[in-house]
Amino acid sequence: MINAIFRNSLIGIVASLPVVLNAQTEINPYLYAPQKKIECKRGAVVSANALASMVGVEMLKKGGNAVDAAIATQLALAVVYPGAGNIGGGGFMVAHLSNGKNITIDFREKAPEKASRNMYLDANGNAQTDLSQNGHLSSGVPGTIAGVFAELKYARLPFKKLIQPAIDLAEKGFAITRAEARDLTAEQVIFKKYNTVMPVFIKEIAWKTGDTLIQKELAKTLKLIRDYGAKGFYEGETAQLIVDEMKRGNGIMTLEDLKNYTAKEREAVEFSYKNDYTVVTMPLPASGGVLLPQMMRMVEDQPLKTYGFETLKSVHLMVEVERLAYADRAKYLGDKDYFKVPGKFLSSYPYVMERMKLYDPNKAGDSKDIQAGNVAPESEETTHFCAYDKDGNAVSITTTLNGGYGSHTIVAGAGFILNNEMDDFSIKPGVPNMYGAVGGEANAIAPGKRMLSSMTPTIVLQNNKPILVVGTPGGTTITTSVFQTLIDILEFGMSAEDAVNKPKFHHQWLPDMIFVEKDFPMDVRDQLIQMGYKIYQRESIGRTEVIQISADGKIIAVGDKRGDDAAEGY
Ligand code: GLY
Repeated sequence: MINAIFRNSLIGIVASLPVVLNAQTEINPYLYAPQKKIECKRGAVVSANALASMVGVEMLKKGGNAVDAAIATQLALAVVYPGAGNIGGGGFMVAHLSNGKNITIDFREKAPEKASRNMYLDANGNAQTDLSQNGHLSSGVPGTIAGVFAELKYARLPFKKLIQPAIDLAEKGFAITRAEARDLTAEQVIFKKYNTVMPVFIKEIAWKTGDTLIQKELAKTLKLIRDYGAKGFYEGETAQLIVDEMKRGNGIMTLEDLKNYTAKEREAVEFSYKNDYTVVTMPLPASGGVLLPQMMRMVEDQPLKTYGFETLKSVHLMVEVERLAYADRAKYLGDKDYFKVPGKFLSSYPYVMERMKLYDPNKAGDSKDIQAGNVAPESEETTHFCAYDKDGNAVSITTTLNGGYGSHTIVAGAGFILNNEMDDFSIKPGVPNMYGAVGGEANAIAPGKRMLSSMTPTIVLQNNKPILVVGTPGGTTITTSVFQTLIDILEFGMSAEDAVNKPKFHHQWLPDMIFVEKDFPMDVRDQLIQMGYKIYQRESIGRTEVIQISADGKIIAVGDKRGDDAAEGY
């Protein structure tokens, strides 16, 4: 049963012939209509683009599981959502398998071997954020393709089947959405600035809704990956094209950096919430692996349900909890393979209870008074998608190029955008990155190290069965958005649709202000200002995707209203 609740207007040119994506699917990439919510019984995928969600569901229909669906969606996003979907970036997967096992895969980018602590400082020690945020030098060694092959271990279908829709979409093209046309047009100058060979994204006249985007070079790269596996990316022609691109733009990535990249399976972070739920999320270098349990534990005993959704009391409490967590993020969090991060301690009950003594229910906090806690020695653009299948496998993946269109450098001849993830390191203590986050020693640059991330792909279990699959892009707002989405559903009893679409807010210690979306309730905003908070209204916060599974097996998938996000299922 498929009950399409809401379908957006068609994208594409109505007159175009319904060309099928490949012989076995009915997806028309020139004429399609994203839907925001679906209720179904057998399986669902929700992602930032309708075509990618449809491709994922096709894999479920062909007998694949949620991991197959996720891989096909991930590869399709690299084609149809070039601003954040990628093969030149990295990400994290959290999965709950039907055999009860929770797994995570870390395919975060890492610093090239020639990277060094002060590589973005000029002769006077000033941070040059243009270099960490744009162009060749801003790229970490990509992890996405290594991640895909690590995921494949849990899939059922042959890889060739999973990658073919992405190849077809790249080779034959697809109609771009209004948002994609707007974004590609807005980025023309910057694309020209950071490329020596002009990519397909450059167009002399403005991109329009329904224009066909064909990416022949990307199709060729995907075919090399189809035919040679991860080596089709990390070695041979593609690797050489990356290194040639580096040489044209003073980048430092080498053939060895590429050949030596490996994805890592890591032990999932699992914690209980109110004895009712088990939350499964990504460990470091995903900061959510520490911050989400911290924040959830800080509010666990608080009367949030009584306070209600986005009232003065609930926002004040949640903002103060976010402030405390992000103060610790700045000081303690980084790649634990390189820096001794006291992660378990930071999310332990005694520690969070101690920290909550700094929370005054009647007074706005001040980040000048809140520093990272004392610990005992102890060992905007990103994209999220979720998949769930009839056997109970649940997959939550967030991937990233970092900023929209990453470094803006496209590997000539290979057709994909490189990330600008090096900016997620702390390039100088106290200097904010592009998301305004500060850091220090824990997240300093070192060769081979993974930069700290905010990505928080998460699954909530009840009686060891998935009930929520959640995640979002949004830089440093990712972890707070996941936190709020969980609280909205688990505490305020909201529907998945409301939890995704209602206004969000965010505090990250520094800068000391509450960021709110424009539809955040005006009366609460005024009361917060009276209490002493600074409020900053910003563009949308995140693009949250949720799949909710009810006790009777109904699957509800919701894509965020803030973007082209779309839910598909059957
Ligand atoms: N580049 C966004 C993140 O990983 O947090």
